[in-house]
Amino acid sequence: MQRKAKRMRAEIIRITDCKKCRREILRAGELLRAGELVAFPTETVYGLGGNALDQNASKKIYQAKGRPSDNPLIVHIAEVESLAKIVVDVPEKVRRLAEACWPGPLTVILPKNGRVPYETTGGLDSVAVRMPDHPVAMALIQAGGGFVAAPSANTSGRPSPTLASHVAEDLGWAIPMILDGGPVGIGLESTIVDFTEEIPTVLRPGAVSLDELRGYVGEVRLDRGLLREDAGIRPKAPGMKYRHYAPKAELTIMAGTDEAVARAINRRIQEGEAARKKVGVLCVSENAALYRGGVCRCIGSRSDGEAIARNLYRCLREFDECQVDAIYSEAFEAPRIGPAIMNRLLKAAGRRVIRCTDEGDEEERK
Ligand code: TXA
Ligand code: MG
Repeated sequence: MQRKAKRMRAEIIRITDCKKCRREILRAGELLRAGELVAFPTETVYGLGGNALDQNASKKIYQAKGRPSDNPLIVHIAEVESLAKIVVDVPEKVRRLAEACWPGPLTVILPKNGRVPYETTGGLDSVAVRMPDHPVAMALIQAGGGFVAAPSANTSGRPSPTLASHVAEDLGWAIPMILDGGPVGIGLESTIVDFTEEIPTVLRPGAVSLDELRGYVGEVRLDRGLLREDAGIRPKAPGMKYRHYAPKAELTIMAGTDEAVARAINRRIQEGEAARKKVGVLCVSENAALYRGGVCRCIGSRSDGEAIARNLYRCLREFDECQVDAIYSEAFEAPRIGPAIMNRLLKAAGRRVIRCTDEGDEEERK
Protein backbone atom coordinates (compact mmCIF):
# COMPACT_ATOMS: atom_id res chain seq x y z
CA MET A 1 0.00 0.00 0.00
CA GLN A 2 1.29 3.42 -0.86
CA ARG A 3 1.64 5.86 2.01
CA LYS A 4 0.17 9.25 1.36
CA ALA A 5 2.55 12.15 2.03
CA LYS A 6 1.01 14.67 4.42
CA ARG A 7 0.49 17.92 2.52
CA MET A 8 0.76 21.36 4.04
CA ARG A 9 -2.70 22.80 4.47
CA ALA A 10 -2.13 25.70 6.82
CA GLU A 11 -1.81 29.26 5.70
CA ILE A 12 1.10 30.68 7.72
CA ILE A 13 0.67 34.37 8.46
CA ARG A 14 3.53 36.39 9.89
CA ILE A 15 2.22 38.95 12.37
CA THR A 16 4.71 41.63 13.31
CA ASP A 17 2.28 44.27 14.47
CA CYS A 18 -1.31 43.49 15.51
CA LYS A 19 -2.59 46.89 14.44
CA LYS A 20 -1.12 46.58 10.96
CA CYS A 21 -2.33 42.98 10.71
CA ARG A 22 -5.88 43.72 11.90
CA ARG A 23 -7.48 42.10 8.85
CA GLU A 24 -5.55 38.87 9.28
CA ILE A 25 -6.41 38.68 12.98
CA LEU A 26 -10.09 39.24 12.21
CA ARG A 27 -9.96 36.49 9.62
CA ALA A 28 -8.36 34.14 12.18
CA GLY A 29 -11.09 35.13 14.67
CA GLU A 30 -13.74 34.28 12.05
CA LEU A 31 -12.23 30.81 11.65
CA LEU A 32 -12.48 30.27 15.43
CA ARG A 33 -16.09 31.47 15.47
CA ALA A 34 -16.84 29.03 12.65
CA GLY A 35 -15.53 26.13 14.76
CA GLU A 36 -12.13 25.88 13.02
CA LEU A 37 -8.68 25.71 14.60
CA VAL A 38 -5.95 28.37 14.52
CA ALA A 39 -2.44 28.02 15.99
CA PHE A 40 -1.04 31.14 17.64
CA PRO A 41 1.94 32.35 19.68
CA THR A 42 1.80 32.93 23.43
CA GLU A 43 4.62 34.02 25.75
CA THR A 44 5.14 30.38 26.86
CA VAL A 45 4.75 28.12 23.78
CA TYR A 46 2.57 28.12 20.65
CA GLY A 47 -1.05 27.08 21.26
CA LEU A 48 -3.56 25.23 19.08
CA GLY A 49 -6.74 27.27 19.50
CA GLY A 50 -10.41 26.45 19.09
CA ASN A 51 -13.60 27.97 20.52
CA ALA A 52 -13.64 26.69 24.13
CA LEU A 53 -17.45 26.87 24.33
CA ASP A 54 -17.93 24.71 21.23
CA GLN A 55 -17.68 21.00 21.94
CA ASN A 56 -16.98 20.17 18.31
CA ALA A 57 -14.02 22.56 18.19
CA SER A 58 -12.55 20.85 21.26
CA LYS A 59 -13.03 17.46 19.61
CA LYS A 60 -11.14 18.76 16.57
CA ILE A 61 -8.25 19.82 18.82
CA TYR A 62 -7.88 16.32 20.28
CA GLN A 63 -8.04 14.84 16.82
CA ALA A 64 -5.46 17.17 15.28
CA LYS A 65 -2.97 16.56 18.12
CA GLY A 66 -3.65 12.85 18.47
CA ARG A 67 -4.28 13.64 22.13
CA PRO A 68 -6.22 11.35 24.49
CA SER A 69 -9.60 12.99 25.07
CA ASP A 70 -9.35 12.61 28.87
CA ASN A 71 -6.60 15.24 28.88
CA PRO A 72 -8.30 18.61 29.50
CA LEU A 73 -7.56 21.84 27.64
CA ILE A 74 -6.67 25.26 29.04
CA VAL A 75 -9.19 28.02 28.28
CA HIS A 76 -7.47 31.27 27.27
CA ILE A 77 -9.13 34.59 28.03
CA ALA A 78 -8.22 38.21 27.24
CA GLU A 79 -9.71 39.99 30.30
CA VAL A 80 -9.59 39.04 33.98
CA GLU A 81 -13.40 39.54 34.15
CA SER A 82 -13.95 36.69 31.69
CA LEU A 83 -12.88 34.19 34.35
CA ALA A 84 -16.07 34.72 36.34
CA LYS A 85 -18.14 33.88 33.24
CA ILE A 86 -16.96 30.26 33.03
CA VAL A 87 -16.41 29.18 36.66
CA VAL A 88 -18.82 28.69 39.57
CA ASP A 89 -17.11 31.26 41.77
CA VAL A 90 -13.86 33.27 41.85
CA PRO A 91 -12.40 33.05 45.37
CA GLU A 92 -10.67 36.17 46.71
CA LYS A 93 -7.24 34.46 46.60
CA VAL A 94 -7.62 33.67 42.92
CA ARG A 95 -8.74 37.19 42.12
CA ARG A 96 -5.65 38.55 43.88
CA LEU A 97 -3.35 36.12 42.09
CA ALA A 98 -4.92 36.75 38.68
CA GLU A 99 -4.68 40.48 39.08
CA ALA A 100 -0.99 40.17 40.02
CA CYS A 101 0.07 37.62 37.38
CA TRP A 102 -2.22 38.09 34.38
CA PRO A 103 -1.55 38.46 31.62
CA GLY A 104 1.22 35.95 32.25
CA PRO A 105 2.41 32.33 32.44
CA LEU A 106 -0.06 31.19 35.09
CA THR A 107 -3.05 28.84 34.78
CA VAL A 108 -5.65 28.45 37.55
CA ILE A 109 -8.06 25.55 37.95
CA LEU A 110 -11.53 26.13 39.42
CA PRO A 111 -14.92 24.34 39.33
CA LYS A 112 -16.46 25.06 35.91
CA ASN A 113 -19.98 26.29 35.21
CA GLY A 114 -22.40 24.98 32.58
CA ARG A 115 -21.07 27.16 29.75
CA VAL A 116 -17.92 25.06 29.43
CA PRO A 117 -18.58 21.75 27.66
CA TYR A 118 -17.11 18.54 29.08
CA GLU A 119 -15.31 18.01 25.79
CA THR A 120 -13.11 21.00 26.69
CA THR A 121 -12.36 19.78 30.23
CA GLY A 122 -11.75 16.13 29.36
CA GLY A 123 -14.86 15.17 31.30
CA LEU A 124 -13.83 16.99 34.51
CA ASP A 125 -16.02 19.35 36.55
CA SER A 126 -13.15 21.82 36.78
CA VAL A 127 -11.67 24.12 34.14
CA ALA A 128 -8.13 25.45 33.64
CA VAL A 129 -7.97 29.14 32.69
CA ARG A 130 -5.19 31.52 31.73
CA MET A 131 -4.67 34.95 30.20
CA PRO A 132 -1.58 34.89 27.97
CA ASP A 133 0.89 37.78 27.83
CA HIS A 134 1.20 38.09 24.08
CA PRO A 135 -0.36 40.75 21.83
CA VAL A 136 -1.20 38.28 19.03
CA ALA A 137 -2.82 35.83 21.48
CA MET A 138 -4.85 38.59 23.11
CA ALA A 139 -6.01 40.01 19.78
CA LEU A 140 -6.98 36.56 18.51
CA ILE A 141 -8.93 35.67 21.67
CA GLN A 142 -10.89 38.93 21.39
CA ALA A 143 -11.55 38.41 17.69
CA GLY A 144 -12.53 34.78 18.28
CA GLY A 145 -15.23 35.38 20.89
CA GLY A 146 -13.28 35.60 24.17
CA PHE A 147 -12.75 31.95 25.16
CA VAL A 148 -10.09 29.98 23.30
CA ALA A 149 -9.22 26.41 24.32
CA ALA A 150 -5.58 25.79 23.51
CA PRO A 151 -3.17 23.03 24.32
CA SER A 152 0.41 23.37 23.14
CA ALA A 153 0.41 23.17 19.31
CA ASN A 154 2.50 20.00 18.98
CA THR A 155 1.59 16.47 18.06
CA SER A 156 0.84 14.69 21.34
CA GLY A 157 4.06 13.54 23.02
CA ARG A 158 6.45 15.76 21.05
CA PRO A 159 8.28 18.77 22.51
CA SER A 160 6.06 21.88 22.65
CA PRO A 161 6.55 24.34 19.77
CA THR A 162 8.55 27.51 20.42
CA LEU A 163 8.59 28.56 16.75
CA ALA A 164 5.82 28.68 14.12
CA SER A 165 7.89 26.27 12.01
CA HIS A 166 7.59 23.65 14.80
CA VAL A 167 3.79 23.97 14.56
CA ALA A 168 3.88 23.64 10.78
CA GLU A 169 6.04 20.53 11.10
CA ASP A 170 3.59 18.81 13.48
CA LEU A 171 0.17 20.17 12.47
CA GLY A 172 0.54 22.08 9.20
CA TRP A 173 -1.35 19.35 7.35
CA ALA A 174 -4.26 19.29 9.82
CA ILE A 175 -5.25 22.92 10.45
CA PRO A 176 -6.16 25.88 8.21
CA MET A 177 -4.08 28.67 9.79
CA ILE A 178 -0.94 29.36 11.82
CA LEU A 179 -0.24 32.86 13.14
CA ASP A 180 3.54 33.30 13.21
CA GLY A 181 4.61 35.73 15.93
CA GLY A 182 8.29 34.73 15.86
CA PRO A 183 10.08 32.88 18.67
CA VAL A 184 8.25 32.72 22.02
CA GLY A 185 9.69 34.47 25.08
CA ILE A 186 9.64 31.86 27.86
CA GLY A 187 9.75 28.51 26.09
CA LEU A 188 8.12 26.35 28.81
CA GLU A 189 4.40 25.97 29.50
CA SER A 190 2.60 27.95 32.20
CA THR A 191 2.60 27.19 35.92
CA ILE A 192 -0.68 25.38 36.75
CA VAL A 193 -2.28 25.92 40.19
CA ASP A 194 -5.29 23.89 41.26
CA PHE A 195 -7.72 25.86 43.43
CA THR A 196 -10.26 23.06 43.76
CA GLU A 197 -8.15 21.69 46.65
CA GLU A 198 -8.28 22.99 50.22
CA ILE A 199 -4.67 24.15 49.84
CA PRO A 200 -3.80 25.54 46.38
CA THR A 201 -1.65 22.95 44.63
CA VAL A 202 0.90 23.32 41.84
CA LEU A 203 0.21 20.65 39.21
CA ARG A 204 2.88 21.82 36.76
CA PRO A 205 5.85 24.12 37.56
CA GLY A 206 6.47 27.04 35.19
CA ALA A 207 7.89 30.55 35.06
CA VAL A 208 5.76 31.71 38.02
CA SER A 209 7.70 30.12 40.90
CA LEU A 210 6.43 28.51 44.08
CA ASP A 211 7.87 31.38 46.15
CA GLU A 212 6.09 33.96 44.01
CA LEU A 213 2.80 32.07 44.38
CA ARG A 214 3.21 31.87 48.16
CA GLY A 215 3.82 35.62 48.23
CA TYR A 216 0.39 36.18 46.64
CA VAL A 217 -1.83 33.48 48.16
CA GLY A 218 -0.06 32.13 51.26
CA GLU A 219 0.21 28.36 51.65
CA VAL A 220 0.74 26.49 48.37
CA ARG A 221 1.86 22.90 47.97
CA LEU A 222 3.31 20.80 45.17
CA ASP A 223 1.22 17.94 43.75
CA ARG A 224 2.64 14.71 45.21
CA GLY A 225 2.63 13.18 41.76
CA LEU A 226 5.21 15.81 40.73
CA LEU A 227 7.58 14.87 43.50
CA ARG A 228 7.49 11.08 43.32
CA GLU A 229 6.03 9.70 40.13
CA ASP A 230 7.97 6.47 40.62
CA ALA A 231 6.06 5.76 43.83
CA GLY A 232 2.98 5.11 41.73
CA ILE A 233 1.27 8.35 42.68
CA ARG A 234 -0.67 9.72 39.75
CA PRO A 235 -0.14 13.36 38.94
CA LYS A 236 -3.40 15.27 39.24
CA ALA A 237 -3.11 17.06 35.89
CA PRO A 238 -4.05 14.24 33.52
CA GLY A 239 -1.51 15.52 30.99
CA MET A 240 1.39 15.07 33.39
CA LYS A 241 1.02 11.30 33.43
CA TYR A 242 2.03 10.86 29.80
CA ARG A 243 5.60 10.65 28.51
CA HIS A 244 5.93 14.06 27.14
CA TYR A 245 8.09 16.71 25.59
CA ALA A 246 10.12 13.86 24.20
CA PRO A 247 12.50 13.73 21.27
CA LYS A 248 12.45 10.55 19.18
CA ALA A 249 15.81 9.22 20.43
CA GLU A 250 16.11 7.99 24.01
CA LEU A 251 17.22 10.80 26.31
CA THR A 252 19.25 10.21 29.48
CA ILE A 253 20.15 12.83 32.07
CA MET A 254 23.72 12.64 33.35
CA ALA A 255 24.20 14.06 36.85
CA GLY A 256 27.43 14.75 38.77
CA THR A 257 30.43 17.06 38.59
CA ASP A 258 31.25 18.59 35.19
CA GLU A 259 34.33 16.37 34.90
CA ALA A 260 32.57 13.12 35.83
CA VAL A 261 29.66 13.87 33.47
CA ALA A 262 31.96 14.78 30.57
CA ARG A 263 33.99 11.59 31.09
CA ALA A 264 30.85 9.43 31.12
CA ILE A 265 29.34 11.11 28.06
CA ASN A 266 32.62 11.02 26.10
CA ARG A 267 32.82 7.30 26.72
CA ARG A 268 29.34 6.87 25.28
CA ILE A 269 30.22 9.03 22.27
CA GLN A 270 33.21 6.76 21.59
CA GLU A 271 31.17 3.60 22.03
CA GLY A 272 28.54 5.12 19.74
CA GLU A 273 31.12 5.88 17.04
CA ALA A 274 32.41 2.32 17.19
CA ALA A 275 28.85 1.04 16.66
CA ARG A 276 28.12 3.67 13.97
CA LYS A 277 25.56 5.36 16.20
CA LYS A 278 25.10 9.13 16.41
CA VAL A 279 25.14 10.47 19.96
CA GLY A 280 23.59 13.85 20.83
CA VAL A 281 24.88 15.94 23.75
CA LEU A 282 22.92 18.73 25.43
CA CYS A 283 25.11 20.97 27.58
CA VAL A 284 25.62 24.48 28.91
CA SER A 285 27.89 26.62 26.72
CA GLU A 286 30.61 26.70 29.41
CA ASN A 287 31.05 22.92 29.01
CA ALA A 288 30.89 22.59 25.21
CA ALA A 289 34.68 22.25 24.89
CA LEU A 290 34.68 19.22 27.22
CA TYR A 291 32.93 16.96 24.69
CA ARG A 292 34.81 15.03 22.00
CA GLY A 293 32.59 14.43 18.98
CA GLY A 294 28.89 13.63 18.84
CA VAL A 295 26.19 16.15 17.91
CA CYS A 296 26.62 18.84 20.56
CA ARG A 297 23.91 21.43 21.28
CA CYS A 298 24.52 24.32 23.69
CA ILE A 299 21.37 25.18 25.58
CA GLY A 300 22.70 28.51 26.86
CA SER A 301 24.95 29.80 29.61
CA ARG A 302 24.82 28.11 33.02
CA SER A 303 24.11 31.53 34.56
CA ASP A 304 21.12 32.21 32.28
CA GLY A 305 18.17 30.03 33.35
CA GLU A 306 15.80 31.97 31.10
CA ALA A 307 17.89 31.09 28.02
CA ILE A 308 18.01 27.42 29.06
CA ALA A 309 14.20 27.41 29.33
CA ARG A 310 13.78 29.18 26.00
CA ASN A 311 16.11 26.82 24.11
CA LEU A 312 15.20 23.43 25.60
CA TYR A 313 12.41 22.32 23.23
CA ARG A 314 14.14 23.72 20.13
CA CYS A 315 17.30 21.76 20.98
CA LEU A 316 15.30 18.55 21.52
CA ARG A 317 13.64 19.00 18.12
CA GLU A 318 17.02 19.64 16.48
CA PHE A 319 18.25 16.27 17.74
CA ASP A 320 15.30 14.72 15.90
CA GLU A 321 16.29 16.53 12.72
CA CYS A 322 19.88 15.27 13.02
CA GLN A 323 18.49 11.76 13.56
CA VAL A 324 20.69 11.00 16.55
CA ASP A 325 20.35 7.51 18.06
CA ALA A 326 20.73 8.54 21.72
CA ILE A 327 20.86 11.83 23.63
CA TYR A 328 22.76 12.57 26.84
CA SER A 329 21.93 15.76 28.68
CA GLU A 330 23.57 17.51 31.57
CA ALA A 331 21.29 18.37 34.50
CA PHE A 332 20.56 22.10 34.66
CA GLU A 333 20.30 24.13 37.82
CA ALA A 334 18.78 27.60 37.72
CA PRO A 335 17.01 29.84 40.18
CA ARG A 336 13.25 30.49 39.73
CA ILE A 337 12.61 28.64 36.45
CA GLY A 338 15.00 25.77 37.36
CA PRO A 339 12.35 23.37 38.73
CA ALA A 340 10.27 23.83 35.55
CA ILE A 341 13.28 23.08 33.34
CA MET A 342 14.15 19.89 35.24
CA ASN A 343 10.49 18.81 35.36
CA ARG A 344 10.31 18.88 31.52
CA LEU A 345 13.76 17.36 31.04
CA LEU A 346 12.96 14.49 33.45
CA LYS A 347 9.70 13.80 31.64
CA ALA A 348 11.43 13.87 28.25
CA ALA A 349 13.93 11.36 29.68
CA GLY A 350 11.21 9.07 31.07
CA ARG A 351 12.86 9.96 34.44
CA ARG A 352 16.08 8.12 33.53
CA VAL A 353 19.09 9.66 35.30
CA ILE A 354 22.64 8.32 35.49
CA ARG A 355 24.71 9.50 38.44
CA CYS A 356 28.31 9.90 37.32
CA THR A 357 31.11 9.66 39.91
CA ASP A 358 34.82 8.86 39.95
CA GLU A 359 33.89 5.33 41.00
CA GLY A 360 31.59 4.76 38.03
CA ASP A 361 28.06 5.42 36.75
CA GLU A 362 24.88 4.32 38.38
CA GLU A 363 21.39 4.51 36.94
CA GLU A 364 18.58 5.88 39.11
CA ARG A 365 14.93 6.77 38.49
CA LYS A 366 13.91 10.18 39.69
O1 TXA B 1 1.62 27.66 28.61
C1 TXA B 1 0.64 26.92 28.47
O2 TXA B 1 -0.07 26.58 29.42
C2 TXA B 1 0.36 26.43 27.03
C3 TXA B 1 -0.04 27.64 26.18
C4 TXA B 1 -0.49 27.26 24.80
O3 TXA B 1 -1.00 28.40 26.86
N1 TXA B 1 -0.69 25.43 27.04
C5 TXA B 1 -0.48 24.16 27.48
O4 TXA B 1 -1.57 23.33 27.34
O5 TXA B 1 0.56 23.78 27.94
P1 TXA B 1 -1.46 21.74 27.41
O6 TXA B 1 -2.79 21.26 26.99
O7 TXA B 1 -0.31 21.29 26.60
O8 TXA B 1 -1.27 21.42 28.91
C6 TXA B 1 -2.36 21.60 29.81
C7 TXA B 1 -2.14 20.80 31.06
C8 TXA B 1 -2.30 19.31 30.86
O9 TXA B 1 -1.30 18.63 31.61
C9 TXA B 1 -3.70 19.05 31.44
O10 TXA B 1 -3.84 17.74 31.92
C10 TXA B 1 -3.78 20.07 32.55
O11 TXA B 1 -3.14 21.20 32.00
N2 TXA B 1 -5.17 20.46 32.88
C11 TXA B 1 -6.03 21.17 32.11
N3 TXA B 1 -7.24 21.29 32.71
C12 TXA B 1 -7.14 20.63 33.89
C13 TXA B 1 -8.06 20.37 34.96
N4 TXA B 1 -9.31 20.81 34.93
N5 TXA B 1 -7.61 19.64 36.03
C14 TXA B 1 -6.33 19.19 36.06
N6 TXA B 1 -5.42 19.41 35.07
C15 TXA B 1 -5.81 20.12 34.00
MG1 MG C 1 1.23 20.17 25.92
